[in-house]
Amino acid sequence: MGTKGREIVKLDVIELIELLNKAYADEWLAYYQYWVSAQIVKGRMKNAVVSELTEHAGDELKHAEMLSERILQLGGAPITNITELNDRANCKYAEPTNPDSVEILKQGIDGERCAIDVYNKLLDIVAHKDSVTYHVILEILEDEVEHEDDFEVILEDIQRGGE
Ligand SMILES: [Fe+2]
Ligand SMILES: [Fe+2]
Repeated sequence: MGTKGREIVKLDVIELIELLNKAYADEWLAYYQYWVSAQIVKGRMKNAVVSELTEHAGDELKHAEMLSERILQLGGAPITNITELNDRANCKYAEPTNPDSVEILKQGIDGERCAIDVYNKLLDIVAHKDSVTYHVILEILEDEVEHEDDFEVILEDIQRGGE
């Protein structure tokens, strides 16, 4: 990142990069969880669940790219070791061992709630200290809030008898 661009960050940049890398790991795990869940999901409202999982997977990958770009601007590098992704993540990978659509949706909702907590805390940390990162995190948080709602709506449809 440019010198002035880094000067305006009123935080320990090394610590900030670590927090962003942990979130980056979360995004990769969420991406893979949704992507693979879309391949194997069965049961009620399968088509709606597949399309939501596929859309969310794309969003999580976009979030990973947004975080990677900010990490690089700050002078860091995104995690390159695949096994470190699960070790350093805030929200651990939830293996979809049961392909039933209800279980897949519940795992997704748990994941989104974890992400909302992480980004909400991150916003507090960077508020008034790093406006560029704040903007990136806010955009991601808005998506995660929408994701939780999307999954909840389908789960409610299933619970009301939707096929
Ligand atoms: Fe995300
Ligand atoms: Fe999400």
